[in-house]
Parts: sequence; C-alpha cells; structure tokens
Amino acid sequence: MKKILVTGGLGFIGSHTVVELQNEGYEVVIIDNLSNTTISVLDSIVSITGITPTFANIDLRNQKAVGDFFDNHTIDGVIHFAAFKAVGESVGSPLSYYQNNLNTLIYLLQELTVRKIDNFIFSSSCTVYGQADSLPITEKEPVKPAESPYGYSKQAGEIILRDSCKASELNAISLRYFNPIGAHPSIKIGELPLGVPQNLIPYITQTAAGLRGELSVFGDDYPTKDGTAVRDYIHVVDLAKAHISALARLMHKENKSNYEFFNVGSGTGSSVLEVIKAFEKASGKPLRYKIVGRREGDVTAAYADTTLANKELKWKTTLSLDDALASAWKWQLAQEK
Ligand code: WQD
Repeated sequence: MKKILVTGGLGFIGSHTVVELQNEGYEVVIIDNLSNTTISVLDSIVSITGITPTFANIDLRNQKAVGDFFDNHTIDGVIHFAAFKAVGESVGSPLSYYQNNLNTLIYLLQELTVRKIDNFIFSSSCTVYGQADSLPITEKEPVKPAESPYGYSKQAGEIILRDSCKASELNAISLRYFNPIGAHPSIKIGELPLGVPQNLIPYITQTAAGLRGELSVFGDDYPTKDGTAVRDYIHVVDLAKAHISALARLMHKENKSNYEFFNVGSGTGSSVLEVIKAFEKASGKPLRYKIVGRREGDVTAAYADTTLANKELKWKTTLSLDDALASAWKWQLAQEK
C-alpha cells in the first residue's frame, strides 16, 4: 500500500483530500501543527472512512523535526497543503507568511531530494494570475506581480518547485485552486474558519445562521454582469479528487515533464449576487446583505479554463454550485449542534 504524507491534512482542503486518498486505498500520514484547525477533524475523518490515518503534530518550520519525521516514515508521495492562506492577513505579516509558506516548502523539498521521494503535489492558487488579461483563465495566462505576500508566496513556491524538479529526480504538480467551497456530503468535515470569516461562503452561512448581522458585499461597481465580482467556486470534494488524479499521474509516471501545473476550478464564473441568490434558493433562507466599497486587492473576475486538467488529469467537476452551497449550509447548521 503506497504511503502518502499530507501536510496540513487536518485543514479544510487537506481533510477532504485525506478522505479521498483513503477511499483510493492509500495509507495516509498527516502532519499538522493545528495552527488553523482542531484535532477533532482527525476523528471526523475516521468517522467517514473507518480508517485512522497516522497523525504527527509537527511544525514544518522546525527543520530538525522535518528530518526526524522522514527518518521514521517511508513515504511514496507528498501532498503539501500546510501554509498560511489569508490574503488580507498576509499584508500585515509578510515575514511570517514568507517564513511559514516558503521555509516549510524548502525543508520538505530538501528531505525529498535527499531521500529520493519523487512525487510531490503543491497547493497553489489562481491568485498567481492576479487580474488575468483574458477569461476564462488558461495555464498559458502569464503570472502577474502578486497583490499580496500570500499571493507572492504561492508564486515563489511554484518557482522553488520548478527549479528543484529541474535539478533533481523530483516530479511535481502544482494545482492552482480557484475558490474551494462546501463540505463533505457526510457533513462531518467542512470549512472551519477561526474568528471572523474572510471568505464569502462561510460569511454567508454564518450570517444566515444569525452569527453575523449581515453580509457586506465588497463593491457593485465592477465591469461585470451585475457589478459584483466574479469567481469560480468549486466544490471542495471535486477539488480533493483532483489531487487523487494528479497523484495517480505521477505514481504511474504519466507526467509529460517533471514540473507541471493545472488550473482546478469548475470553469464557471459566478458573481457575488448570483451566489447570494443561489444560497437563498439552496437554504430556503433570505440573506441580509448590504453593498459596501470594494475590498483592497480584489480582482474583477477570475474563472478557470479547465481543458488541460480535464484532458491530462482525466478529471472534471461533477458537483454544482447549488450542491456546494447546500452542503455549506448543512455544515453550518451542524456546527450549532
Ligand atoms: C470571493 C468574492 C469578494 C467576503 C481568496 C484567496 C484565494 C483563495 C480563496 C486561498 C470576492 C467577495 C468576500 C465578504 C464579499 N484562498 N466577498 N464579502 O478573495 O476570491 O480568494 O480565497 O487559497 O487565494 O485570494 O475569495 O471568498 O474572500 O471572496 O463581497 O464578506 O466574495 O470581494 O469578490 P477570493 P473570497
């Protein structure tokens, strides 16, 4: 049984990916320092699959601890989620973002190249494109100067990966996520934002649940169908399955070069107002919201051309925006119990 290390495996996307890895028959080892999640997610994963992953509470910024881990585990592949990911927060704390998001990647890659662990999947983001010149966004779209230290840490991460693959036997795939939303159909795992949610969907569900007064819609003066910004919302389970496809590509040596990257989105752009309307339909609850000014750093529109991932990863989304919003609402209601 192939053994896969999932860093950040108790996080939102990480936990959903662990479930899919176990469903595929992989043995899973999770590293997480619990800085942005809770240990209860581990039990929730077990309650879904009946399989207990190995768990190591390690901070990947501790280079010695990373080396010790690999002394004790024979790993066949790594899926690296562990990183700080709040765009706004990164502007105020650039050094902690660069230290956490880049040092940890470098420590991991140093171990992998020495130990000849050749399969690595990197959690990247559509943020690397900034405001793309053409839509939908293909992988040929140029990477633009980042608008935040978070975005730059993803761009730098991809470059570090590309250069490491060139200089070693390492094979890697970066998956450029669009906007992951929703929760596992079991409603046992989902998004657990700590504090005030930065992202749209958890803010919507907390507003509908009465935990927030009303949603602030950040701008309705964008050059879009209804003036509100457009994003590509992808169900987190579809996103998790893209990691299974990417890992299989590497394990079966089907990759066409030693460093590849793919856009992982639904391929559909939805405006904030469209999401609100879809949520009201999915939840049966009217949503209180007000229009306010634009948020610093937001782009007008971003949605994926998924042709390359569909073809090369033999992967495509199967769940809709409505499915994702309904699962997000059910997950929110489950939090109150
Ligand atoms: C979506 C839309 C907001 C909150 C970020 C990161 C990206 C990825 C996903 C990590 C935007 C609007 C939001 C609110 C609003 N994260 N909005 N009111 O900014 O597209 O992407 O999260 O990988 O890298 O950049 O996601 O959910 O914050 O915003 O009107 O209270 O909802 O303006 O148009 P975003 P988001």
